Amino acid sequence: MNAQVHGAHLEVKGLTKRFGGLIAVKDVGFSVNGGEILGLIGPNGSGKSTVMKLIMGIERPDAGSVRIKGVEVAGWPSHRIARLGAGMVFQHSRPLHRQTVLENITLALLPDKLRRLFPDPENEARARAIAERVGLGHVLDRRPSTLPFADLRKMEIAKAIARDPQVVLVDEPFAGLTSRETAAFSQLVTDLRDDGRAVLLVDHNVKSVAALVDRVFAMYVGERIAEGTADEVMRNETVRRVYLGGSIETAARPESSFRDTTPFLEVKNLNVFYGKAQAVENVSIHVHQGEFVSVVGLNGAGKTTLFNAISGVLPYSGEIRREGKPLGGLTPAAIARGGIVQCPEGRELFGDMTVRENLDLGGQHVTREESEKRMQWLFDLFPILEQRQAQTAGTLSGGEQQMLTIARALMMNPALLILDEPTLGLAPVILEQLSKALERLRQTTPITVLLGEQNVTFALPHADRVYVLEHARIVWEGDPSRFAAEAGTGYL
Ligand SMILES: Nc1ncnc2c1ncn2[C@@H]1O[C@H](COP(=O)(O)OP(=O)(O)OP(=O)(O)O)[C@@H](O)[C@H]1O
Ligand SMILES: [Mg+2]
Repeated sequence: MNAQVHGAHLEVKGLTKRFGGLIAVKDVGFSVNGGEILGLIGPNGSGKSTVMKLIMGIERPDAGSVRIKGVEVAGWPSHRIARLGAGMVFQHSRPLHRQTVLENITLALLPDKLRRLFPDPENEARARAIAERVGLGHVLDRRPSTLPFADLRKMEIAKAIARDPQVVLVDEPFAGLTSRETAAFSQLVTDLRDDGRAVLLVDHNVKSVAALVDRVFAMYVGERIAEGTADEVMRNETVRRVYLGGSIETAARPESSFRDTTPFLEVKNLNVFYGKAQAVENVSIHVHQGEFVSVVGLNGAGKTTLFNAISGVLPYSGEIRREGKPLGGLTPAAIARGGIVQCPEGRELFGDMTVRENLDLGGQHVTREESEKRMQWLFDLFPILEQRQAQTAGTLSGGEQQMLTIARALMMNPALLILDEPTLGLAPVILEQLSKALERLRQTTPITVLLGEQNVTFALPHADRVYVLEHARIVWEGDPSRFAAEAGTGYL
């Protein structure tokens, strides 16, 4: 090791990464001291996750230097970088599903495959302590697939800090979390800083990032565009234009303006059970032809279950009708072919297929000509997808994948489009684009939309009518303008 006196735990200089002709990261440099949080922001696809992967050695830099506590690690394999003292909380969690929470954390403690063969009581005790610290003490023996979303994220943090890293990289910790969970997570990240670690944090939740970080580094198409305090960076003209965008404004139409006597979709007294647990309880909702309806609810409230029942992929009791005719008994494929298209929360893209192939699959039930027209329209809506037609979906950035999922659903020319948490992982400026796209759909097509969101700042402006789903039940229904006064607590 160089005997340099080094303030910065992490120091990056001239970092560059190419994927074929694309320069994903170009000449990026910054440093993060121990006891400091640096926020990394930028629109979808600007290279944030790639920067983290380059630091962690998951991708190999084409040029540049990465120093961890003064040691040059650029080009090292990731297990050596991890051993030296860097840990990463990934954007998408990938737990070992056959192992328990405790086992997942214990395994993360052991860098070497060989040592995993020998159970070590000391390691287990340490894993328990870490689990307690992140708030997983009560679910140690559960398998990851049975955990709520927020606990899965906590498990990723536990794994990342298992080996006591001095540099912690955290990629989109708040995506999909409620405001209360976000507060708890912010505390965890603050604790990491107060331990004296250097933290690099990426997230699109601008408010939470600003409240948490000491400094912000903003990127756009792989390059630095601004750096400074959160305040300075958010006021920066370029950042405002390419990242923050403008505000969302649309207007609700009164229910009386929809003149169909039989609503397009009618759900009556719906009940869905997973084993003994009731996920949807006596839910009744309706959506008129052409209406935009939002179902607002926190994680685990039952939104996805409700949508899955409508799509025919779950058994239920009660009645679901489309234009008066029961959907019960139809296969999910028949329901989808009929034009009820669900855009799933879990993305479900074909990762090894290209962007174009994924879209073509979405368009296979409309005519060739219609499919070409739609594709062009979607490329106008999401220009990045046009540029990335030949890229495999699995290598797209988080936000790009989300855009592709929505675009693929729109390729099917749906009569009813069900959007399940479409805003997850999207940069503010892309939210604005999506918002404009929905508004254009609303004004120029007969499409009907059912939107599930916990992000009320997006759900309300895009709804003619709103339902609130809490603990499997509908607890409120009304006009978006009445939401804040009557149902807003816990959401706003
Ligand atoms: N293996 C790869 N092959 C080709 N292109 C890639 C690969 N990995 C990433 N890219 C591209 O590099 C760019 C940067 O991706 P990255 O995941 O770093 O973005 P990001 O800033 O994290 O975005 P988001 O906020 O959407 O997660 C994207 O346009 C992405 O499509
Ligand atoms: Mg990313």
